[in-house]
Amino acid sequence: MSIEPDPELLGALDAWQHRAVAHQPPWPDAAHLAAVRDRLTTLPPLVFAGEADALRAELAAAGAGEAFVLQGGDCAESFADATADNIRNKIKLLLQMAVVLTYGASMPVVKIGRMAGQYAKPRSAQTETRQTEDRGAVTLPSFYGDCVNSHLFDARSRTPDPERLLDGYHAAASTLNLIRAFTTGGFASLLRVHEWNRGFTRNPAYARYEEIAAEIDRAIRFMAACGVDVESLRTVDLFSSHEALLLDYERPLTRIDSRTGLAYDCSAHFLWIGERTRDPEGAHVDYFAQVRNPLGVKLGPSVTGDDALRLLDRLNPTGEPGRITFITRMGAGTVRDALPALVEKVTADGRPVTWTCDPMHGNTITVNGYKTRRFSDVVDEVAGFFEVHRGLGTVPGGLHVELTGDDVTEVLGGSEQIDADGLARRYETLVDPRLNHQQGLELAFQVVELLRAH
Ligand code: PEP
Ligand code: CO
Repeated sequence: MSIEPDPELLGALDAWQHRAVAHQPPWPDAAHLAAVRDRLTTLPPLVFAGEADALRAELAAAGAGEAFVLQGGDCAESFADATADNIRNKIKLLLQMAVVLTYGASMPVVKIGRMAGQYAKPRSAQTETRQTEDRGAVTLPSFYGDCVNSHLFDARSRTPDPERLLDGYHAAASTLNLIRAFTTGGFASLLRVHEWNRGFTRNPAYARYEEIAAEIDRAIRFMAACGVDVESLRTVDLFSSHEALLLDYERPLTRIDSRTGLAYDCSAHFLWIGERTRDPEGAHVDYFAQVRNPLGVKLGPSVTGDDALRLLDRLNPTGEPGRITFITRMGAGTVRDALPALVEKVTADGRPVTWTCDPMHGNTITVNGYKTRRFSDVVDEVAGFFEVHRGLGTVPGGLHVELTGDDVTEVLGGSEQIDADGLARRYETLVDPRLNHQQGLELAFQVVELLRAH
């Protein structure tokens, strides 16, 4: 028998509308937006509340040092890239990185894709101006992600269109469908670790991966010969996540769990609140306080310990383990100075959090007109994150990265030594630069060293 929704909860789920909602796109037609919201309300949930609960428990284990979180995917997914090849390559890279970490550090890895819903971006500038040949300087709304407008630079493409929220839902549904098929249908089986590397064996990171894959093969054959049932190695859990930015999307996809009467945002298993929308008094925090999903909050260098405690007061007053992941993104040059006081203050408070490191967003630079990052800065921020947590006796619980399974050239360095001129070769991202397949693997090997050092 299902439980009737509590009217008080339903009221609380709409209270955000009375607060300032930061970083929403300038939708031109409120009635159209309302009609789309109504339509989204009738569509099936994308994830099940029980799955979000399972992830919360795994994140709690990571917070306690019994697992390690690997969260990764595009800065912004695009509808055009929601193809089987693209999705498979991204899943392959996440699985390969997870295998390196699991095997190298003897640690279960909690795998979360920035996938199946990462279609909206907060923009620091509302508009973008470009020089055109025929009309001189033209100013149009910024690109807010495929869920809002198109990146093409003309007035029609850049006008926010609520129909795109529905397109986003459908792209998320088909991406998630493929994720579920790949992770349970045999493709992700640990008995096939070699195949995820096929076509990639020429360079050093791939050769290293092959060695690990061979060892895993041998270990599995040994277990099977001993009579251990290795069938459970045929499936993996890969959870979905995105930045919880557009409340006009998240609210209609929030459902009351028939088992418990509690609210879950069924657009993804894990939602995170971005650096720009984490005001403890703002609409985003108010809204996500009402849903039961495990939540992330991005914390940049300007955050204070008191800010973090106010966020816990709002989002996890009772200190439930696994509920909150603080994703710090301080920058390589800042992490060793900015992180200790924050971690100390939160630790002294006593309510548990899971700490993960986003070594991407504090390290963005512009080179030759390209938004990029140095691979060495990415590695250095992760190293600083581990140093700080080791120094304080707290747990470095995971990694949050922007990556793609393809061989793009968006991040400088790595063993392929992509340089400033090399960026132009294959720079495809619509927003932030991503680690390519090889840089992702290299990073996983580096993190193994850091995990083992303890
Ligand atoms: C992001 O994760 O793409 C992002 C915008 O990050 P942040 O909120 O940390 O700036
Ligand atoms: Co980004």
